[in-house]
Amino acid sequence: MEIIILPSLRDAAVLGARRIASHVRSHARPVLGLATGSTVIPLYDELIRLHREEGLDFSHVTTFNLDEYVGLSADHAQSYHAFMRDRLFSHVNIAAERIHIPDGMTGDIPACCEAFESAIREAGGIDIQILGIGSDGHIGFNEPGSSLASRTRIKTLTRRTRNDNARFFADPAEVPHHVITMGVGTILDAREVLLFAAGESKADAIAATVEGPVTASVPASALQLHRTVKVFVDEPAASRLERAEYYRWVYDNKP
Ligand code: F6R
Repeated sequence: MEIIILPSLRDAAVLGARRIASHVRSHARPVLGLATGSTVIPLYDELIRLHREEGLDFSHVTTFNLDEYVGLSADHAQSYHAFMRDRLFSHVNIAAERIHIPDGMTGDIPACCEAFESAIREAGGIDIQILGIGSDGHIGFNEPGSSLASRTRIKTLTRRTRNDNARFFADPAEVPHHVITMGVGTILDAREVLLFAAGESKADAIAATVEGPVTASVPASALQLHRTVKVFVDEPAASRLERAEYYRWVYDNKP
């Protein structure tokens, strides 16, 4: 893992967007895995800026989102369909037919999950997967205890994640109990992973992910088994990393 400690999430977003832009510019059929949540908003803002001001073209890009709440329709304000539309898709030129987000309203969840996995395979696999991380160490909505070999499927959110996400809902009781999420195995199949974390509330999860054992109790720790992971963290999120000084040293002395 490459650990990149930066003064702010905005700095992380600029670096992450630069990596994505370089990939999108140099590939005929780039495939991006996308996340939702507060942490990735500055990243999408920067991609929108690159599109508007520097001509970054998304017309040939295919996207797969990590997850969606079960029971929220695409036009529900808190659905991840709506998040992506508002925060990225309506501001850049991604073709609607190349956008893939699990359908939270499907009548057949197993078939929907299987079709999602097939679509990823047919697109040639995910080149760059963007991730946030839960305070409990989840990636996608693979909550603690998720199989590290899991594929796209339905998951039940923990109380903690429901509480963490209640801030977006008018009434906390409205937060769905279930989600469809890519599995840890699906995420590990991506060729490259960019994980973003900011704030003290993520410090324990980041320390466990980077320096703890690989364990289903911290699903993000499975990323230790991936060859190409960049972890972008601000100072508060990096505050419990024992080897923080070494990561800074490595970053400052890149070969
Ligand atoms: C969202 C997702 C989640 C979030 C995580 C962090 O698609 O898969 O894993 O990345 O819950 O959310 P924020 O950034 O809101 O703290």
